[in-house]
Amino acid sequence: MKQLMEKRENDNETTVTEFILLGFKSFPELQTLFFITFLAIYMVTMVGNLLIAAVVLINHHLHKPMYFFLGNLSVLDTCYTSTILPRILASIINDYHRISFSGCFLQFYFFAFLAGAESYLLSAMSYDRYLAICKPLHYVTLMNNRLCVQLSLASWVTGIVASAFTTFFASQLTFCGPNEIDHFFCDYEPLLMLSCSETQHTEIVMSVLGSACTMPPMILTFASYVCIISTILQIPSNSGRSKAFSTCSSHLIVVTIFYGTLIIVYILPKTDTLRDLNKVFSVFYTILTPMFNPFIYSLRNREFKEALRTTINHFVPLSRTQGIQPQ
Ligand SMILES: *[C@@H]1O[C@H](CO)[C@@H](O)[C@H](O)[C@H]1NC(C)=O
Repeated sequence: MKQLMEKRENDNETTVTEFILLGFKSFPELQTLFFITFLAIYMVTMVGNLLIAAVVLINHHLHKPMYFFLGNLSVLDTCYTSTILPRILASIINDYHRISFSGCFLQFYFFAFLAGAESYLLSAMSYDRYLAICKPLHYVTLMNNRLCVQLSLASWVTGIVASAFTTFFASQLTFCGPNEIDHFFCDYEPLLMLSCSETQHTEIVMSVLGSACTMPPMILTFASYVCIISTILQIPSNSGRSKAFSTCSSHLIVVTIFYGTLIIVYILPKTDTLRDLNKVFSVFYTILTPMFNPFIYSLRNREFKEALRTTINHFVPLSRTQGIQPQ
């Protein structure tokens, strides 16, 4: 009512100064369960990723392209999850759902930047594995330190630039109320739906940028895995083949879920069913991907596990006497 009156008073000005992020408010009886689950996910994600970044930086024999990518992915995932989860936890614990206009666009900026960077970094990692497995004789010359630095830098820069454009266009929209966002973070689609300006051009810009951040890396990633799998199938020994295959298929599952849900939410045309399920799909690429990455990419890797074990033994003297033995 108050908003309506305000709207009438200054008709073509932005009257919305804050948004309400509804989050998971529609299940009041499940708030405690949500809180415990998200808190656990946040802690596992932070500890897992920070541990990986530390192990990579500390162990000099891990200073190779593959582990540099892994370290970068962990740092990225730490930031990525921190743009989304603390805000959800805070809103559950003290029922605080308001977010300022600029806070909302700031959150969107960091989300889009880190999601774009993640998308490109995952494809750089699969390209690195493609070279290592399918071109083993040329791996060292092809994937030299320079290319490695260029690829990781390019991922970060692409995210920053694409997100700056997207946020700029989104911030040009006018909002005259209502201001309730039915989502758990400030995403552009719900923002567009609240806007009272002509959104057609913005929508086109958004879907072009969204496609540019997901389609090329996804195609590169899947092409790499097709070559990797066809090489693995030629391994003569049965056990070697199934081991390589299981590592590779777990990577493939994680990237498929990440790119798949991004495409469903940002690129596919919106039907009513898809719009209702938006929140559920968003949980996958914002919350679950950063949590699973460390487990999938590092804990299935023998060299890394070895380094993790020696690092822990080094810093936690107790574990040496408690029988954690090298294989
Ligand atoms: C990220 O990548 C760069 C270049 O490839 C590397 O120098 C840096 O150490 C990496 N960061 C981490 C935390 O591994």
